[in-house]
Amino acid sequence: MRTMIIAGNWKMYKDLQETTDLLTQLKAAVPRLPANVVSIVCPPYTSLHAAAAALSGSAFKLGAQNMSQHDEGAYTGEISGKMLKAVGCEYVILGHSERRQYFGETNELINQKAKKALALGLTPIVCVGESLQEREAGITGQIVTTQVKGTLSGIGPQEMTRIVIAYEPVWAIGTGRVATPEQAQEVHQIIRKQIAQLYDWALAERITIQYGGSVKPDNAADILTQNDVDGALVGGACLKADSFSAIIKAVKP
Ligand code: PGA
Repeated sequence: MRTMIIAGNWKMYKDLQETTDLLTQLKAAVPRLPANVVSIVCPPYTSLHAAAAALSGSAFKLGAQNMSQHDEGAYTGEISGKMLKAVGCEYVILGHSERRQYFGETNELINQKAKKALALGLTPIVCVGESLQEREAGITGQIVTTQVKGTLSGIGPQEMTRIVIAYEPVWAIGTGRVATPEQAQEVHQIIRKQIAQLYDWALAERITIQYGGSVKPDNAADILTQNDVDGALVGGACLKADSFSAIIKAVKP
């Protein structure tokens, strides 16, 4: 049995006070995580320090939403993995579709970032997923396998065991249009097969593949019970303690 990872991607929401308030409510709503669940919150950079303080003594882990592929230097506006580690992050989301779409991130760049994160001891959550146009053209499998291959290029089997993959169909993000459990399972299986081809089956069976895209308390249980779905990357519903905690509680023991 793989551990389920329920992560919250806060995107560009919550200032300092709102961060402390949300995490106080979340800790009250989930005083103890189920034994088979790891839960991560990924607030904006400006809230990471406060979030680390608010979470100390709790089982929730801290993650960031992006990081630089560079160690340090004259890169105005960028944040390094070393900085994320220093503030208490253990995870970092890489290659979210919004980063690909609005900030021009490519598989090659995401691959560089993933290698840097691994070298620094951060766990990358690498996002892949097709657009609506690509799904309608019947090329979902092709798009996702190209993204998996590109973002994992040159990553050895040992390091691969530390990577989390998030399948997020772009058409389901923030739209309320969730993939059906069968649609999610189908693509998760394609991804796991691809990992088996690139590495081997034993390794592929160990990899956590999260689903993301309009996960809510009322659809979480159906998606999370699919064989190859090992958790959720949650956007909108992670901004309230009651909905995020309900998704955590939707995981079958
Ligand atoms: P959503 O976002 O849950 O609001 O669809 C998911 C994500 O972008 O990670």
